[in-house]
Amino acid sequence: MAQYTPKVKEAHAFLEISQDFTTPAEIFRESIANSLDAYARRLWLRAIVEPVRGRETVFIDLSDDGIGMNADTIKSFLNLSDSVKPKEPPAGKPARQMTGYKGHGTKVYFNSESLEVLSYDGTSAPVVCRLSDPRGELADGKVPTADIEDLTLEDLKSRREAWGIQDLGTGPGTSIRVTGYHQNSKSGLEHDRLRDYILWFTRWGSWEPKLRTVTGTTSRAVEDLRTCELSLRGLGTNDYEKLPYGHVFPLADCTDVRQLRAKDDVDPLKHYVRTWAFTNEPLHKNPEKKIDFLFAIEGEAARREYNNMLRRQGKPRRPGDYLSEERYGLWLGCDFVPVQRFNAWVSERSEYTRMHAFVNSDDLDLTANRGSVENTSQDLLADIEATVRNIFAERIEETPDYVKFQDELLDIERQRHAEKEAQDYRRRLKRLEARDIATINGVEFYSPETETDVIALVSGVQALLPNLLPFVVRDYDSHFGFDGLATRKKQLSVNETKHLFVEFKLDLKKDFNHSFENLEAILCWTARLKDGESVVDLAGRKGTYQITTQKDGRKVRIIVVPGSVHNVEVVAFKELLEQHGYKFRPSGE
Ligand SMILES: Nc1ncnc2c1ncn2[C@@H]1O[C@H](COP(=O)(O)OP(=O)(O)OP(=O)(O)O)[C@@H](O)[C@H]1O
Ligand SMILES: [Mg+2]
Repeated sequence: MAQYTPKVKEAHAFLEISQDFTTPAEIFRESIANSLDAYARRLWLRAIVEPVRGRETVFIDLSDDGIGMNADTIKSFLNLSDSVKPKEPPAGKPARQMTGYKGHGTKVYFNSESLEVLSYDGTSAPVVCRLSDPRGELADGKVPTADIEDLTLEDLKSRREAWGIQDLGTGPGTSIRVTGYHQNSKSGLEHDRLRDYILWFTRWGSWEPKLRTVTGTTSRAVEDLRTCELSLRGLGTNDYEKLPYGHVFPLADCTDVRQLRAKDDVDPLKHYVRTWAFTNEPLHKNPEKKIDFLFAIEGEAARREYNNMLRRQGKPRRPGDYLSEERYGLWLGCDFVPVQRFNAWVSERSEYTRMHAFVNSDDLDLTANRGSVENTSQDLLADIEATVRNIFAERIEETPDYVKFQDELLDIERQRHAEKEAQDYRRRLKRLEARDIATINGVEFYSPETETDVIALVSGVQALLPNLLPFVVRDYDSHFGFDGLATRKKQLSVNETKHLFVEFKLDLKKDFNHSFENLEAILCWTARLKDGESVVDLAGRKGTYQITTQKDGRKVRIIVVPGSVHNVEVVAFKELLEQHGYKFRPSGE
């Protein structure tokens, strides 16, 4: 019996993983996670563009004052699927929950022209490690070779100075320089865009601080990270900006309608903010597994006060900006970092664009690039959904605040509706004044402005002059334009005669919503088609419009359809009435 142990095609695996990440900003997510796992308390992240031999080159520098690496431990930095995390915190520091475990993260750095790491673990010799052209090597099917060199503390210090991270001095820490990442692309590395990304989709943008505040609970992680620092310098700025730890929410809830009206009388809910939060909630079917759930309703104006990436209608677009509906809603993720949106879980009864909501579960399985939670078992996902739906229905939707909010929302909508109605009334009154009037058997009729008007007019006139039209309409429908089911044999009952469609039009045009096959006549107010013009039916069949003038001067209009058993009659109703002596005149005359 032959035996075979499957192998990994190494260069191919490296290449795939290094390219599995979709946006350049993801490099920052991976690096922040690694630095925090390494117990860093200060992080410096920057993207800069500098000329190298006459070519603009993008450098991404990622530094931290964490536990660092030495010539031996740096190997897991380079290896694929080799995750080595500190088992114990450095002396005197609180333990942290690790996020990395796959050994994939740093492999995104390989998607570059060169990768350098400068690191010191505080005891062994500092090291510098260099990979040149990792992307090119991988493309050629080779795993790139790293040069690793020991340094003196002096060397370390001067190299750090040269890289602009002199703040690290000769303390432990790691600096990574990625050159020409992702085809040397600048897009996605703009300062505002990176800040937005970091505060939404990385551990530094954790929504746990808000959860703790709202639920009145504490956590070691939040207390620990609150005292750490992250400095960012993206493209377009010359200085580092210190980003405060934690995802950004409105400063405070604001539900008092009187206060809200003072801010915006027309739409006070634009400034509305109300937050609910629930921590450590057991899942229905797996009660040993817990979730956290934060749900806020936020008005658009309240959002704009803290989020400068929201796109404004009518303003020019900026790279990375977005509309509320593109970003907000209900996010599910782990480590208090959102991964995927599930707006439908609660948005049936609440507009998702107003929601700023997160669910956290540490039992999710993410896909390798952390883009989705779809590796999680369907049963578990369904259980999380059911639990969230239940919390929403019982502990949010029924609270007096939520009920009041919905009432206010309805109220505003009603008010808007009433205002629209008043406007509509004025508009229609004007239209009415402009209409012509004809008197038929003592009853006044107004000239039609819409298809509906045509129907009302025809049916009214038909009641007074039953023999005016050659047919009687017995059924109306507005499904595909307006049409009626009519018969020429007025005296026969429904089941005794054949019915055909009569199409109503304000003004006769070239296209019809019916096929000529079943069309008996077109009843229009005016017909502006010219003699000999083609008209097309629903099925694309062509007919020819023909006008003939009879001896008594009356015009007969038909559409001749080749191959059809009958022609379509066209009745110009205005003309027909005029022929019978009913002329429409301006209302003042
Ligand atoms: N900033 C850093 N400081 C110290 N060690 C680091 C740093 N970044 C990476 N490492 C080391 O490199 C290893 C590989 O990192 P990588 O991000 O590829 O995988 P991971 O963090 O273990 O898992 P994941 O793929 O889930 O992120 C880590 O396990 C860690 O030992
Ligand atoms: Mg990692």
